[in-house]
Amino acid sequence: MIRAQFAMVINLDKCLGCHACAINGKKVWTNREGQEYAWWANVETRPGVGYPKLWEDQERYGGGWVLVNGKLRLRLEVEKKFKPLEMRDYYTPYTYDYKALFAPEVGEEQPVANPINMYTKKPMEIKWSPNWDDDLGGANIYGKADPNWKNIQASIYMTLRNIFMFYLPRLCNHCLNPACVAACPTKAIYKRKEDGIVLIDQTRCKGYRYCEIACPYKKIFFNWKTGKSEKCIFCYPRLEVGLPPICVETCVGRIRYVGVVLYDEDKVLEAASAPEDKLVAAHRSIILDPFDPKVIKQAKADGVPDNFIKAAQESPAYYMFKKWEIALPLHPEYRTLPMVFYIPPLSPVIASMGPNGTYDAKYESIIPSIDEMRIPLQYLANMFAAGNVDEVKKALKRLVAIREFFRRINVEGMSKMAAASVLQEVGLSIEDADLIYKWLALGKDRWVIPTRNRPPRLASQRIPSIQSS
Ligand code: SF4
Ligand code: F3S
Repeated sequence: MIRAQFAMVINLDKCLGCHACAINGKKVWTNREGQEYAWWANVETRPGVGYPKLWEDQERYGGGWVLVNGKLRLRLEVEKKFKPLEMRDYYTPYTYDYKALFAPEVGEEQPVANPINMYTKKPMEIKWSPNWDDDLGGANIYGKADPNWKNIQASIYMTLRNIFMFYLPRLCNHCLNPACVAACPTKAIYKRKEDGIVLIDQTRCKGYRYCEIACPYKKIFFNWKTGKSEKCIFCYPRLEVGLPPICVETCVGRIRYVGVVLYDEDKVLEAASAPEDKLVAAHRSIILDPFDPKVIKQAKADGVPDNFIKAAQESPAYYMFKKWEIALPLHPEYRTLPMVFYIPPLSPVIASMGPNGTYDAKYESIIPSIDEMRIPLQYLANMFAAGNVDEVKKALKRLVAIREFFRRINVEGMSKMAAASVLQEVGLSIEDADLIYKWLALGKDRWVIPTRNRPPRLASQRIPSIQSS
């Protein structure tokens, strides 16, 4: 069965950490009582502990899937730990006493707006926030606690000389094998058949909160006012009229891309059960070539509309994740097959110039050794490839080759044909380079969104949870 799925790519090399995505997501969807603490879209600084605190520590939170005797099981089910998150895992939401600024009493000192607890409405002291460790503020304390230091000595990198940072914007991944869907006893969470968006039916949700524990990305938010859970909806009301999600449209850095991919639903379980070091490859293998006549024929037979097939052929997500392999899933070892992908950050990647002030096209100088790179490859691999360094190297190597290709043309005055040897080394063509340049450097045509007039949704239009038993 071939299905269409919306996917997103986020280019970490250009994220400037402005939080426009997070703020606009908040303003549009969670700016209301019961969701004060909820940030469907948020931006973290790495190394850091993220939001909610240490969300990647599954020993603590029990999210995602694990393989037991070769079968996929919810970690929640295996470990039988039921511990919903508490406010202290997020932060105590606050506003400010703005009246103190607008109508201050006459006095000797400048007026100050003190923080006010949004729940108790009383003055409070701020001790944590969703981006407390932003821009490495307190990295010497929090950076070392980052769970991605697996197999790396954090203390070496957290010294002043070696310290590095990058931003990690996050949202629900609208996974192909969503743990949240499988965990809900009332089947309130479902994955839309037509585009793979994962939603919570508010009339069915009874507030069990298993979904919150099962989601390894901690992107389910309990609404204390309604007693039901909520999550990112990939801005589906916008998508349905051809607009991108609000975090994508308002991204100042133009680093977010949205498109459709076609995938083989029957292979989802197999891909999610692959050995850890093969998880990224297995994930890629179920994304299908939208130009393949056999895929097109089957997709049509399975009800994928023509405009979705056409969109899949123009999809930045297809090219970046599947064709060029420059985008990677966040923590594939959680085995949910997330559909938000990340282009890993390069900077600063070039360790030194060649003798003539040019980059040496040889592999070792394009990608310096781990010791030379500011951002350790193993750290990126732990985050985006279940520890498989080769996947990260492949992506970075291609990104550097693109830079070198255009540098040769624009700085050294070489012809495209002469400059292309650097592309051949990494398996890219001039056409690939032009398209990558258009998307990544210029930020043009960042979304390709097919619209759909759909009839009212029936229960049979939901994809059942995928779980081996
Ligand atoms: Fe569900 Fe995946 Fe979204 Fe978590 S990230 S809420 S598991 S679809
Ligand atoms: Fe199900 Fe989560 Fe609601 S487990 S009942 S969707 S709180």
